[in-house]
Order: sequence, then C-alpha cells, then structure tokens
Amino acid sequence: MYDSVSELPKDIQKLMNKAQQAREDAYAPYSRFRVGAALLLDSGETVIGNNQENAAFPSGLCAERVAVFHAGATKPNATIKTMAITARSLQRELTNPIPPCGACRQAIAEYEIKQESPIAIYFMGETGKVAKAFSISDLLPLLFDKSYL
Ligand code: THU
Repeated sequence: MYDSVSELPKDIQKLMNKAQQAREDAYAPYSRFRVGAALLLDSGETVIGNNQENAAFPSGLCAERVAVFHAGATKPNATIKTMAITARSLQRELTNPIPPCGACRQAIAEYEIKQESPIAIYFMGETGKVAKAFSISDLLPLLFDKSYL
C-alpha cells in the first residue's frame, strides 16, 4: 500500500495519470461513477479502458475489462506488465482504493494465464492511498480456468 500517488515509482505514476485521463472520458451517465484503467505493455506502450454504460444496465462494461479486451484486440501478442485503476464518483470523494469487481478479476486472470506472467495491479479512488497486488492471484484465489473445461 502506498500513501499517495506521489509515493509510486515514476513509471507507475505516469500510468496512473493515464488511467485518470481515461477515467474522465468514461461514459457513466447512470452511475456517475467513472473508472479508468491503463495497461503498461512490455513494449512500453499503454492501452486504456474506461467504463461504458448502457440504458440496458447489464449491457455496459467495466473499465478493467474494456482495457484488457482493448489490449487483446489491438496487441494480441503483447505482455501486460502493469495495470493502474482509478475511480471517481460525481456523488462523493472516493478516498479509499477501489478494487476491481469479481468479473473483471476473472477477465484479468485469463490474460495472466495466456501470457504466462503476472500482471501487477495498482488501484485507487480519486485521492488517497494506492493499493498494489503483485498478481491477479492475490485478488482472486481459486479462479476458474481452462483446466476445468
Ligand atoms: N465499474 C468498473 O468500471 N469497474 C469495477 O471494477 C467496478 C464497477 C463500473 C461499472 C459501472 O459503470 C459503474 O462502475 C458502477 O458500478
């Protein structure tokens, strides 16, 4: 856990800045809860995602899945090294780290397994502490994977 963004390593701060920018471009008129995610690839490139809502609520998608699917679609052979996530509510200030939802954890796990290397995940609210997971397995024990199929 880091006390604030300024405590993060410089490259992670930059990645979190990209997640913050992406967050502000979220399409979240229903929840007014904007989430941004930024992925750092092994090439040094970044790929972003943000939540995309829908009047038919379940048809929308979280920022983290938009980001990993965006990477899967546009950089299918890249390795994702790091993911930065930030959320901002238009209702109240989010001062605690906001963890990815269960469905996003499952989706992130698929890409860790595909690339055979861990994805470090840094997550925060709008301000305050930044939490770090070294791998999605820190956040999702006992995941469902291809070995069960
Ligand atoms: N949301 C995310 O983008 N990521 C999460 O991990 C949790 C929730 C979005 C979905 C919805 O657009 C809004 O936040 C409120 O749930």
